[in-house]
Amino acid sequence: MIDKIEEIRKKIDALQPKNAEEVEEFRLKYLTKKGLIPSLFKDFKDVPPEQKKEIGQALNQLKTYAQMKYNQWKEELGKDRESKAADIDFSLPANFVELGARHPISIVLNDMVDIFNRLGFTVAEGPEIEDDFHNFTALNFPEEHPARDMQDTFFFEKNPDILLRTHTSSVQIRAMQKLKPPIRQIYPGRVYRNEAISARSHCIFHQVEGLYVDKDVSFADLKQTLYYFAKEFIGPDVKVRFRPSYFPFTEPSAEMDISCFLCGGKGCKICKKTGWVEILGCGMVDPNVLKFCNIDPEEYSGFAFGMGIERPTLVKYRIEDIRLFFENDIRFLKQFRSVI
Ligand code: DAH
Repeated sequence: MIDKIEEIRKKIDALQPKNAEEVEEFRLKYLTKKGLIPSLFKDFKDVPPEQKKEIGQALNQLKTYAQMKYNQWKEELGKDRESKAADIDFSLPANFVELGARHPISIVLNDMVDIFNRLGFTVAEGPEIEDDFHNFTALNFPEEHPARDMQDTFFFEKNPDILLRTHTSSVQIRAMQKLKPPIRQIYPGRVYRNEAISARSHCIFHQVEGLYVDKDVSFADLKQTLYYFAKEFIGPDVKVRFRPSYFPFTEPSAEMDISCFLCGGKGCKICKKTGWVEILGCGMVDPNVLKFCNIDPEEYSGFAFGMGIERPTLVKYRIEDIRLFFENDIRFLKQFRSVI
């Protein structure tokens, strides 16, 4: 028994726990009820009476020693933690958490959506892979009509009836097929045209389409809506003008210019010295289009408009190359962090 006590003592002496887990391991192995030292106390009852005094003392010393060691290690660990805490300088600035940035196209698109929301327009979306009917036929582009060539289309080789939409006007058709007037919606989204990629144009870009169909909708409503939009989007001093134009799906059709928001109308590079910048196409929904969607043109009328998002974004942020929008270069995208 004396040998056993001595052996345990030596073992304890050799221990050097490195962390809280090892100290706890020691406690479990030596000090708890089923641990080594208490189990020696259990064996103590079998010790012959003449040895009881000597072994009893040795046992008690071992127990006190083990407990003392345990307390000492615990204390050291605590100090260690305190000194680590003392190393922390709470006056240092916190770690910077880098936030993502909105894409500039999304920023401008959200601005546009907000403005039309305030006029009671809701947002809806349609598919980017379209069929000929929604992209052309129902929009009054006659079969084989050269108007279809106005927009260079990506067709699917296997089925030329399927294409990548060339404009968001296709979503008007889907809306009118599904909803009963009054319809007051805008349709933002991505569109595709088979065009050479350069600093000024791309085969992918974005548009917002607008549609309002109800009883007695007039060209005056169209003008007022778009004038409100221009004032909210550019500023209260903006001027607008409408020029007659042609689109198969509107009659009459127009293009809207706004006074150049860079030079205020004096003439600069952006407005090509004219003082005006074209921003959208618009018009009264052609009765044929209403008929394609089973809406009675005798009962209802409507206006529609469509505009690109890339161009106003280029101007707003003085970006010189449209390709930057699609390259996902983090150095470019990071610059728009401020607007989340
Ligand atoms: N879809 C036309 C385009 O991509 C834009 C447009 C013009 C939309 C007149 C309209 C509109 O709704 O009425 O060039």
